[in-house]
Amino acid sequence: MPEQGKEGARLFSPLNLRGVTLKNRIVISPMAQYCAEGGFPTDWHFAHLGGFAIGGAGLIFTESTKVERRGLGSFGDLGLWDDSHIAPLRRITDFLKQMGAKAGMQLNHSGRKARSQRPWEGFGPIVAPESELWPMIAPSAVAHSKDWAVPREMTGRDISENIEAWVAAARRAHAAGFEVLEIHGAHGYLVHQFLSSYANHRTDAYGGSLKNRMRFPLELTEAVRNAWPAELPLFFRVSAVDDAGWTLEDTLLLARELKAVGVDIIDCSSGGMASRSPTAAQTQCVLGYQVPYAESVRKHAGIATMAVGLIVSGAQAEAILVNESADLVAIGRQALYDPFWATHAAEELAEYAQFETLPKQYGWWLDRRKKAGFPGAVNPSQADVAL
Ligand SMILES: Cc1cc2nc3c(=O)[nH]c(=O)nc-3n(C[C@H](O)[C@H](O)[C@H](O)COP(=O)(O)O)c2cc1C
Repeated sequence: MPEQGKEGARLFSPLNLRGVTLKNRIVISPMAQYCAEGGFPTDWHFAHLGGFAIGGAGLIFTESTKVERRGLGSFGDLGLWDDSHIAPLRRITDFLKQMGAKAGMQLNHSGRKARSQRPWEGFGPIVAPESELWPMIAPSAVAHSKDWAVPREMTGRDISENIEAWVAAARRAHAAGFEVLEIHGAHGYLVHQFLSSYANHRTDAYGGSLKNRMRFPLELTEAVRNAWPAELPLFFRVSAVDDAGWTLEDTLLLARELKAVGVDIIDCSSGGMASRSPTAAQTQCVLGYQVPYAESVRKHAGIATMAVGLIVSGAQAEAILVNESADLVAIGRQALYDPFWATHAAEELAEYAQFETLPKQYGWWLDRRKKAGFPGAVNPSQADVAL
């Protein structure tokens, strides 16, 4: 287990993972923006990710970034399938570093969930002539659901070439300045498809028993681990339970195997195999709805975890850490609402008196205003001023 901080709020204690020290436990969860061009990040990515770094988060993940063109989920996905993708990503990681944040890269391949509309266009399959689309591969020739194209079943050669694509993308991520890497093994995408008896109907060594279904994810992870520098941490995102037969017991077995091949953190999400959305936007969820998965994996698989899903306040995040349910908390939609979430959590937990979570360009002024005694300096609703 990683070292725990000793004083103050646990949320603001550093965490050592291999040779990397995160300044706090606040992670920005991967969030697809659907506005890359040819796999390249745009100014939007710089502003979007840079804002979280200004706001004080310790680790900031890119959205799911595709290891090959065939893996594109949608138009506008980020990519790392070519060396030319490195330089524009480097511009972003350089800025994150200047702000004292670590840059995390999430790698992914959509498999049979490729060619999907952007969420606000309906999340269904893209309808366009085949010549304008890209080929789809998956463990089995089984469509994601009705109306979706049937992917081509991957051959043994496809499997080894695909692993090579992940390895090459991991190397590029390192060259682009990322210090944390996450393999996306959740939400019904390629790696999860191999794990799932619902999507994987293979009769060779990569299908059938749980051991066989875990083979591709584990071979892939081991290959990526060998290519990713030993001093840098590797995360793996799981759907701890899904909507198509994968259980928490399966996740515990997988997590133990992942630990054995060098994974440092299990990022505990859920769902996405049969339904579309891993954000559970269509269902009613309670705050911290996935925290029990992070707690269970941490306790029973003996590996550090990251909790995610409707974590919205500093007090809630702090309780997750103090209760030892997880080692890190990932913030998604709440950070879209409030990119300075970390700064607000620090105020809420009375952790920093002088806005130290912010760069001086902002923090110095806010501290000065606070010291001048303006009553609503932090929370305008508390200001007792006549309008
Ligand atoms: C706009 C958006 C895009 C997302 N894209 C990704 C993604 O690229 N990779 C991923 O693993 N999860 C993705 N997710 C899921 C989030 O990382 C997170 O697990 C989920 O939103 C639940 O956390 P929250 O309640 O804090 O938002 C996305 C969520 C949102 C809202």
